[in-house]
Amino acid sequence: MTIAITGASGQLGRLAIAHLKTLADPAQIVALARDPGKVADLGVPARAFDYTDPDGMVAALQGVTTLALISSSDFNDRIGQHRNVIEAAKAAGVGRILYTSILKADRSPLLIAVDHAATEEIIAASGLQATILRNGWYTENWTANLGGAIGAGALIGSAGDARFTPATRADYAQALAVAAADPAHAGKVYELAGDEGFTLTELAAEVSRQTGKPLPYNDLPGDVYQGILESLGLPSGFAQLLVDADVKAGDGWLADDSGTLSGLLNRPTVRLSDAVAVALA
Ligand SMILES: NC(=O)c1ccc[n+]([C@@H]2O[C@H](COP(=O)([O-])OP(=O)(O)OC[C@H]3O[C@@H](n4cnc5c(N)ncnc54)[C@H](OP(=O)(O)O)[C@@H]3O)[C@@H](O)[C@H]2O)c1
Repeated sequence: MTIAITGASGQLGRLAIAHLKTLADPAQIVALARDPGKVADLGVPARAFDYTDPDGMVAALQGVTTLALISSSDFNDRIGQHRNVIEAAKAAGVGRILYTSILKADRSPLLIAVDHAATEEIIAASGLQATILRNGWYTENWTANLGGAIGAGALIGSAGDARFTPATRADYAQALAVAAADPAHAGKVYELAGDEGFTLTELAAEVSRQTGKPLPYNDLPGDVYQGILESLGLPSGFAQLLVDADVKAGDGWLADDSGTLSGLLNRPTVRLSDAVAVALA
């Protein structure tokens, strides 16, 4: 069995390959990246793979039996990019595809779910065996920016008292590796989230507890939050996706208490307090 992972140069892909090396023969793992030079340090064979190069992808997938498609970070026709990958997988004779989707993608009203729902549909129509990993929010969506929040004197958002159950990239990456390594996960759709839920007020309180300095959560109207995100350099369309997710999170679209992720990992997910401590270190 040869398992290939796309987006191997990205943060999730790198972690997934590191974990997969503990579950499978590294010689049977392929790191797929636009620039294979970026993943030479991973210690597995690397091949060039660009979601916008259909012919190149078919060539890169020769001999691959299982393909993990990590959703693109390029929002310019993301559905088209993913369709290219799925069609290349079919043409190359890949047996099973895994895809990193978003929580409740088939019914979520979040703008960010549109590409994921469409990709899931393309996979279903392809006839390929599939494993869908519907990831919740990454804990790092907040913890990676704690320095900015602390500097500004407040954590900001538009989520009100919405409850999130995020997990760390490392936890989602491990689940991806586990699901890729075992064909028994074929045909499954997993809703993946952390064991612990929290509001942004509770997140700010945890940061305050660890730093010993008060950090309030400042809830903002969506248009104000959008303006701040844009002033920090986020493209308008991407800022809109984040604000939309915050506003709709109050209806539970970024929360899941099924325990499916910890079940796949066979351990509890990383605790919020530990993720905050790592980010502050
Ligand atoms: N659920 C969440 O909270 C959340 C948060 C952030 C991201 N995400 C999604 O999860 C994915 C993985 O997250 P991450 O943190 O690993 O993101 P990341 O570090 O930005 O990595 C994205 C990867 O996508 C690759 N990529 C972009 N365009 C490509 C193309 N045309 N062809 C092939 N590869 C391409 C990048 O390759 P290069 O190195 O060549 O640029 C990189 O390897 C993201 O792409 C995004 O869709 C989800």
